[in-house]
Amino acid sequence: MSRLHNQLAIVTGASRGIGAAIAEALAQEGARVVRVARTVTQRAGGVASEVICDLTEPDQVATLATSVTTDFGVPDLVVSNAGGFLLKRLEDTTAEDLESQLAINLRASFLVAKAFLPAMRRAGRGTFISIGSVADHRGFPENVAYAASKYGLRGLHETLLEEFRGSGVRLTLVSPGPTDTSMWDPFDPDRRQGFIPRAGMLRPSDVADAVLFVASRPAHVHIDWLRLGPTGKAATDKHG
Ligand SMILES: NC(=O)c1ccc[n+]([C@@H]2O[C@H](COP(=O)([O-])OP(=O)(O)OC[C@H]3O[C@@H](n4cnc5c(N)ncnc54)[C@H](OP(=O)(O)O)[C@@H]3O)[C@@H](O)[C@H]2O)c1
Repeated sequence: MSRLHNQLAIVTGASRGIGAAIAEALAQEGARVVRVARTVTQRAGGVASEVICDLTEPDQVATLATSVTTDFGVPDLVVSNAGGFLLKRLEDTTAEDLESQLAINLRASFLVAKAFLPAMRRAGRGTFISIGSVADHRGFPENVAYAASKYGLRGLHETLLEEFRGSGVRLTLVSPGPTDTSMWDPFDPDRRQGFIPRAGMLRPSDVADAVLFVASRPAHVHIDWLRLGPTGKAATDKHG
């Protein structure tokens, strides 16, 4: 029997990168996966469904939750993965930069939590996984806006952990180090001094494996925080 047979999983930011790898890994283990993003396209062969949603828009997140619960039921698993990245020093970071990082990396997760966790609490079960970053617990140069948003996400996670303790709902923060996705395209880490080259980064499938591990633990096991990174010499030194 596959490990997530018939479980309903929502994965945000599943149109590419880490979210796409997570959605695929969950589907391969038998989950019914709803892939959410602004540009997600339908796949042939369908264990997965797709919902177009801009997670920075509260009304769209509320509509997402209503349509998912009406069409499929209360999710067994939510992976709040959608995010954005920025590398800028303080002097170059505008207030708008900060606001847009907060909107997708923090506020969107807050909206997704508000949209799904109350029903999961009523059901007395489920797993809610947030994708953080090494930048949710370590400061790096040029990470002003990104780190502020990811540290905020960890604060949200740790608070929800306490609010949902004993409810039957498990919450996990998965914090990966640098991972080779298109998120890095504008920043060209291979040519940027002090950054891990893309070939030395985690692969999206590594993060998906971590999520699958968390999601497939027996109901009495709770992993509150899982951190992973590449093993390269410089792996503990730089960004993601
Ligand atoms: N790559 C890394 O080195 C790394 C390291 C640590 C943590 N992370 C975290 O891992 C997560 C995924 O990153 P990634 O590397 O896979 O990035 P990515 O390849 O750029 O993918 C980002 C995903 O988020 C979605 N998204 C962005 N804005 C959205 C919005 N307003 N509404 C709905 N969906 C939105 C994108 O879909 P659409 O554009 O189609 O909407 C896309 O599916 C992020 O939270 C990131 O911070 C990444």
